[in-house]
Amino acid sequence: MIRSIDVAGSNLTIAWEKSAPENGGSAVFPAIWLRDNCRCPECRHAGNGQRLYEITDLPEDLAIGAAVLSDDKAVRITWQPGGHVSTFTPAWLADHDLSAEARRGRKRPVKLWSKAIGTEMPIGDWRQMVSDPAAELAFLDTFHAHGFGLIRNSPTVPGTVLQIGNHLGFVRVTNYGALFDVKSVANPTNLAYTPVGLGVHSDNPYRDPTPGVQLLHCLESTAPGGDTLLVDGFNAAEILRREAPDAFDLLTRVPVNFRFRSNDADLMARQTLISVDEGGNVVGVHFNNRSLDWLDAPAAMVVPWFAAYRKFAEVLHRPEGELIFRLEPGDCVVMQNDRALHGRTAFDPSKGSRHLQGAYVDKDGLESRARVLRRQIAEDKGVAA
Ligand code: OGA
Ligand code: ZN
Ligand code: ZN
Repeated sequence: MIRSIDVAGSNLTIAWEKSAPENGGSAVFPAIWLRDNCRCPECRHAGNGQRLYEITDLPEDLAIGAAVLSDDKAVRITWQPGGHVSTFTPAWLADHDLSAEARRGRKRPVKLWSKAIGTEMPIGDWRQMVSDPAAELAFLDTFHAHGFGLIRNSPTVPGTVLQIGNHLGFVRVTNYGALFDVKSVANPTNLAYTPVGLGVHSDNPYRDPTPGVQLLHCLESTAPGGDTLLVDGFNAAEILRREAPDAFDLLTRVPVNFRFRSNDADLMARQTLISVDEGGNVVGVHFNNRSLDWLDAPAAMVVPWFAAYRKFAEVLHRPEGELIFRLEPGDCVVMQNDRALHGRTAFDPSKGSRHLQGAYVDKDGLESRARVLRRQIAEDKGVAA
């Protein structure tokens, strides 16, 4: 895979063979970066791979003393001062190529969607998922790409939402408990516990950190109405960026307070409605008209911020973005809470019952689960992951 190596100043440059995937390009690896990635047993614990030194233990004037291509095409570097030796396999170097193209290629695909996804909704079957790691991984992959997924065929017994949440990740206990019952009750502490329709929203933006994933599991749904609404917040944010770039920019920069108060809780968090990463990609949307509190910002920001908020709400409410479906008993919708905004139509509790149970899990748990499954499947096939 490696055609040649070259050391210039404090960089190692690798020219790849013309074979895919590196396509004959070259990759630059700075010396300090390579040294810090040494996997030898002096640098990393042989059992768990954790680093055994501090960055301050490395010489500040570190330099590549010599770099050679071994017979098996691994790169062997002798460091100066000190003479420490590190070896990097071609596969590892290719996997960690720092070029813009390679870095883009490592991003997992995010598929924006609108109402039109209706016919190809990401769906998993619970009984298959618990018996076949490939089925569970396929669900987690489609969940990651779309920011939501519907699990069918789960038990219709109370508490199942915890079983699903703790299978895919780790349920986060909140002031609502480990799970919360969504049904119409007397003296509701939350509008969710009434029969009114709920506009699309992220749950609990008043928490820090805000729950990463929400599960809603259906136990009963004979009441007329109460259909589930889902909107891709990332898609809406991109529409806003195209139609009103200044509004988009303001919503990524000016945070607003969210708040929830009940007898035993007073929760408050401050965050922007849209979050972007260092490359400007949308990575989070938090939107909740019920718990948006007040805008604690310079007075001059207020009018433009409200105009931007209104415009974003208008985009989020467009029918062409809104996926509508009905949860049946045994269905569990799993939503990336900072992307797939959810709501429901009003229902009539006098004509039937409607009972959902909800729970929150963190995103990292689901991502970890997907990596573990991928590793297990690869190991079962006898392929190194
Ligand atoms: C909620 C909620 C939706 C529903 O409880 O957070 O949004 O379908 N419920 O009842
Ligand atoms: Zn080492
Ligand atoms: Zn909700």
